[in-house]
Amino acid sequence: MSITILAIESSCDETSAAVCVDGKILSNIIASQSVHEQYGGVVPELASRAHMQNIVPVVDKALKEAGVTMSDLNAIAFTQAPGLIGSLLVGAQFAKSLALALNIPLIAVHHMQAHVLANLIDDPKPSFPFLCLTVSGGHTQIVQCDSPHEMRIIGETIDDAAGEAFDKSAKMLGLPYPGGPLIDKHAKNGDPNRFKLPEPQIPGLNFSFSGLKTAILYLLQDNTKTDPQFIEKNVDDLCASIQHRIISILMNKMKKASIQTGIKDICIAGGVSANGGLRSALKTMGETQGWNTFIPAFQYCTDNAGMIAITGYFKYLKGDAAALAVSPSARAEW
Ligand code: KG4
Ligand code: ZN
Repeated sequence: MSITILAIESSCDETSAAVCVDGKILSNIIASQSVHEQYGGVVPELASRAHMQNIVPVVDKALKEAGVTMSDLNAIAFTQAPGLIGSLLVGAQFAKSLALALNIPLIAVHHMQAHVLANLIDDPKPSFPFLCLTVSGGHTQIVQCDSPHEMRIIGETIDDAAGEAFDKSAKMLGLPYPGGPLIDKHAKNGDPNRFKLPEPQIPGLNFSFSGLKTAILYLLQDNTKTDPQFIEKNVDDLCASIQHRIISILMNKMKKASIQTGIKDICIAGGVSANGGLRSALKTMGETQGWNTFIPAFQYCTDNAGMIAITGYFKYLKGDAAALAVSPSARAEW
């Protein structure tokens, strides 16, 4: 008998539903919310309302595209934490109602663990144990993954996340939110060595991005004093230099983590893993360090229910169902 799971992700500003049959993702529908662009960041109240509007059509589409009906489902997986609480509540309530109505198990999934397990969706897959650099708008973590159920954070940011570093830098350059993909785009035409930005000296496997943010602010302030058009004229080189420094901070710590653990299967995950520069830096470093490198398909890098579905599948196989009384949480223990 095959195992069919419907998964729902609503932790931030993406409403997503996916269907997974025996560990294969048959559909992964993502509705992004453009309403936040004009505010320069996600507005939690508006995100919750947009999830309410999107969730039924997104689930319908995911089921249709996968060619399954409600009666084929064996379990409902949903993102329990972490995230915006109002957004999480919409997905959690929807998942609970459906599980109750269909009388099937409910599976609670940790969003950050799901980002890591996105690497187990498509072939080739990493072998356990592997290391994953999870880089998103809210998190920057090096995770050692010993099995689908055993993961621990061995390094993390002590201030801003890598995605925040991209988005805040973009904001200083006058680029709209979310600025990460726009920095990526401009960086393709720029010189990464044009502006020298500092690399923080943080001990161990932790990261820091706040010093970089300050350095960028001073660079822009100093130069726009003498040339008000400085940013417009140099946007490509500025983006390339900023991206170059963020990537070198990330990759140097991954190199250290691999040496320290002796693990050479190295993955990336999270929204920032969609970055072209980071993807090629990982490949290049993989070649010099003798790593096997893994990057999820683009659709499984940013927030998506496909990663919730694959995590839900592993939890289902382990018999790890949640009680219907389970509550979503903005912050969650790992
Ligand atoms: O994982 P994600 O979709 O949502 C969170 O859980 O945070 O990550 C979103 C973050 C944002 O900061 C966004 O700017 C960044 O990922 N991002 C990128 C790129 N695509 C998304 N950053 C750099 N280059 C990209 N191509
Ligand atoms: Zn995420």
